[in-house]
Amino acid sequence: MPNLKETLEGARDEALEALAELTSEDEVEALRIRMLGRKGIVPAAMKEMGSLSAEERPEVGKVANIVKNQLQDALQAKLHELQAASRTVAVTGLDVTLPGRRRRIGLKHPISRVMDECVEIFRRQGFIAADGPDIENEYRNFDALNTPADHPARDLQDTFYFPDGRLLRTHTSPVQIRVMESQSPPVRIVAPGRCYRRDTPDPSHVPNFHQIEGLYVAENVSLAELKGTLYNFAHEMFGKDVKTRFRPHFFPFTEPSIEFDISCVKCGGTGDAENGRCPLCKSSGWLEVAGAGMVDPAVFEAVGYDTEKYTGFAFGMGIERLAALHYAITDIRLLYENNVRFLEQF
Ligand code: DAH
Repeated sequence: MPNLKETLEGARDEALEALAELTSEDEVEALRIRMLGRKGIVPAAMKEMGSLSAEERPEVGKVANIVKNQLQDALQAKLHELQAASRTVAVTGLDVTLPGRRRRIGLKHPISRVMDECVEIFRRQGFIAADGPDIENEYRNFDALNTPADHPARDLQDTFYFPDGRLLRTHTSPVQIRVMESQSPPVRIVAPGRCYRRDTPDPSHVPNFHQIEGLYVAENVSLAELKGTLYNFAHEMFGKDVKTRFRPHFFPFTEPSIEFDISCVKCGGTGDAENGRCPLCKSSGWLEVAGAGMVDPAVFEAVGYDTEKYTGFAFGMGIERLAALHYAITDIRLLYENNVRFLEQF
């Protein structure tokens, strides 16, 4: 009986193929009886082995056992699968065989990223993060910062006022006042946060934006230290190759006041990024990143600091602007449209 082995293996292959298509436990049981039942194909083949020669018998016997085990295992596995599926559908109405639905993983907003990075850079230089409320009074937002009542920044057109005279802070500088009111020198803080101005949105303005403020007050603080601090910040944020410069400027709360520029991150300071022009720095080669200066003694007087004993420096930077430079974003309004496909790029 030379074909017994092939008969067994052929029957097994057919049975496994049929098994894959079955959808009920009854069908699986019927297949089991047909293959392995008392009058089934495998037992029948085993009976026929008696007529084989003594050499052939062990080999065919081995095949028969393997086929029997394979079928038993496959039938058992199929039963489990059907039972599990019917159990879940019955109990929960949930079909576990359906494909899953992908979940999006949340990301930190680029504004938060840049803000965290700034805080981290200044923390490494010994600055501690401080905080203040978005709703301020006129005194901390303006008067204590040596900004007189007739200053244009106080205009209704620039500031959101509440009917009771309070306002949405127009910069993070009032946090300087809060910190100095509550502690004596030395003070070394950075204050990141939201600011508000009645600006019409355009590629470089949004009415609700973010700044990070810095303040260092101690004995013998010098302009050189301010320069060193901003210099170090620029190199950590924008890389070692970036060039820096300081320009004289005016702010009511600092004297002297400066503006801090870095060489353009697009054209590398050459003013030529495409066809002799650079759209980012308008071909000037420079980008303004911060306002800063030595704290005006009038500010120290407002918080009761000894103007003979202490000096200090302060600085303020726009986070949206830093983000725009860092990620080469040409319109900061994009940061507020909450288009997930835009935000996912960072
Ligand atoms: N508060 C200023 C603004 O919003 C920025 C600023 C300039 C902050 C100079 C400072 C500073 O602390 O010293 O434009």
